Amino acid sequence: MKKIIIAIDGYSSSGKSTMARDLARKIGYVYVDSGAMYRAVTLYALRHGMAADGKVDTEALIKDLPEIRISFLPAGEDGVQHTLLNGEDVEREIRTMEVSGMVSPVAVIPEVRHRLVDLQREFGKERGIVMDGRDIGTTVFPDAEMKVFVDASPEVRADRRVKELREKGEDVDYDAVLNNIRERDYIDTHREESPLAKAPDAHVLDNDNMTIPEQMEWLMNLYNEVIRL
Ligand code: DC
Repeated sequence: MKKIIIAIDGYSSSGKSTMARDLARKIGYVYVDSGAMYRAVTLYALRHGMAADGKVDTEALIKDLPEIRISFLPAGEDGVQHTLLNGEDVEREIRTMEVSGMVSPVAVIPEVRHRLVDLQREFGKERGIVMDGRDIGTTVFPDAEMKVFVDASPEVRADRRVKELREKGEDVDYDAVLNNIRERDYIDTHREESPLAKAPDAHVLDNDNMTIPEQMEWLMNLYNEVIRL
């Protein structure tokens, strides 16, 4: 069967990573979480004193970009793909509120984006990949055969995020999470370099009132349709 590229874009905490991962597993594709890559660069900046109080030392971070290596460990028994930063498993650390609060200002830096986009294209060279993010269908793989844009209201997304973080043992406040989501939506959609946008040929999935199995059915129907063409 022909292998294709599947691009899943959407707002933060819209559930796109879960559905992208599940879809990849189901059809035997590689899954790449591009947001994890921006998070890993952010963690590097935080650890090296290049980011604090919403501000990034852009010059220092650009200088260090060649030192930042990002890779993934395939999903293990926990079903979670682990992100490696210079060989260290940082999967847990990149999901904290500290990283979430700093990732948008890091992701606006054109040099950071260029480097990560190159790496993302490298992952997709063989096709047979599901990648989720903000600019996958517009910038990274404009030629992707299947594009999905996931939409959900900020309140529903904040609810999901709070649940997820609490399950991981992080004590979070709903309003703080909702504010972080709104702030990231604004920065993600207003930045100059490849802002979050729906590709003209993307299919919109509004998942406010959909269960995870319903979303999977929707995705599988679309995938089967695309693969038949
Ligand atoms: O999907 P996420 O919340 O883990 O993404 C983290 C941040 O990375 C998000 O605020 C925007 C940025 N991002 C991006 O700019 N481009 C991508 N392709 C993926 C994520």
